[in-house]
Amino acid sequence: MGKLRLAVLASGRGSNLQAIIDAIAAGELDAEIAVVISDKGDAQALERARKHQIPHRFLDPREYSAAGAYDRALVALWQEYQVDLVVLAGYMRLLGSEAVRAYRNRILNIHPSLLPAFPGLNAQAQALAYGVRYSGCTVHFVDEGMDTGPIILQAVVPVKDDDAAETLAARILEEEHRLYPQAIQLFAEGRLEVVGRRVRIREK
Ligand code: GRF
Repeated sequence: MGKLRLAVLASGRGSNLQAIIDAIAAGELDAEIAVVISDKGDAQALERARKHQIPHRFLDPREYSAAGAYDRALVALWQEYQVDLVVLAGYMRLLGSEAVRAYRNRILNIHPSLLPAFPGLNAQAQALAYGVRYSGCTVHFVDEGMDTGPIILQAVVPVKDDDAAETLAARILEEEHRLYPQAIQLFAEGRLEVVGRRVRIREK
């Protein structure tokens, strides 16, 4: 069998995309990025793809106004690039049910909190405002909800008394960059089994 083919979806900076690129280059992740897709034409993630000569596409939401049209266009791209696994890395649009259904248990997301705490936007600021002592990040399968799918891996990060949202975010991001390639590698090795809400990780 060939290498696991990834589509990475990103709306912005793309540091998680970079971590995946670097993990592949380092031989820690046995996969290839078939395509990087963004809903923002000026996303730094597209720039990173260009630099590493990875196929990349800007899919402009303004060109798909009909209900579900954007998701159908996404799925068509995934098929065109023969994608095995879709990786959301700072992708700021909620994926519609058509796309989720078409690639059930083949879409991953990373979220900067210990889910189910603090889903949605500004998770790090939410954690600070709530006053938790620990936060972290979560890699999970994507279902129809917002940050609700079965959890694959989590990493815990302490919250410091003098943290601002930015300093906490930076501490969490370091863990994201370690955790995401690791979760993708588990998928590549065929070791993830979804049983209801739970994900079983098979021994090697
Ligand atoms: C990360 O914090 C990720 O957890 C969240 O969005 C941010 C994306 O950062 N979903 P980057 O674009 O990968 O640098």
